[in-house]
Amino acid sequence: MLAMRMKSPVESETTMTEVVYPNDANPMGMLQGGRLVQWMDTASAVCAQTHAGRIAVTALLDKVVFKSPAKVGDIITIKARLVATFRTSMEVFVQVWARKVIGGDVSPVCEAFFTFVALDGNANPALVPKLKIKTTEEQALFDQAESRKLQRTTNG
Ligand SMILES: CC(C)(COP(=O)(O)OP(=O)(O)OC[C@H]1O[C@@H](n2cnc3c(N)ncnc32)[C@H](O)[C@@H]1OP(=O)(O)O)[C@@H](O)C(=O)NCCC(=O)NCCS
Repeated sequence: MLAMRMKSPVESETTMTEVVYPNDANPMGMLQGGRLVQWMDTASAVCAQTHAGRIAVTALLDKVVFKSPAKVGDIITIKARLVATFRTSMEVFVQVWARKVIGGDVSPVCEAFFTFVALDGNANPALVPKLKIKTTEEQALFDQAESRKLQRTTNG
């Protein structure tokens, strides 16, 4: 079998933009957490599937932190970047910011780690290309992902 080409994180990095409408918000005009996580899931799925070249399903959301509320009218930027690949699973780091239309102030809204598993045509887990790591920052993120995976396996 031919070896799969290693791919760098930049090849699958995904940025998504949304605007908070009243329908996305609670009665105080704050973006609902569930709607935000849905957007983050979409951005990270695009990232993971671009890397794998396959359909991938969400297996786990880890370390979700809501940092500050986004409000109706804010412009939301969601950035998803692959931090680790294993056999058939991949971990994606997702960061979210809100920008005010007037004044342009930017604030961090949320971050989380999503794990996806790539599937073959029979919906069985399928091997994914290894991640090409170049920088010490990328290596640190990979090491942290690996230790999270190890901890999950150890804790059953
Ligand atoms: C994710 C899923 C495909 C894993 O299937 P499985 O038969 O348990 O697969 P395996 O035990 O062979 O594990 C395959 C990989 O998934 C990883 N995995 C499975 N469950 C996991 C979990 N809850 N969290 C993190 N990783 C998980 C394993 O660690 C393994 O990774 P590796 O190959 O990189 O080492 C299956 O549990 C599933 O279909 N879940 C539902 C997914 C879904 O509906 N998502 C929402 C819609 S997209």
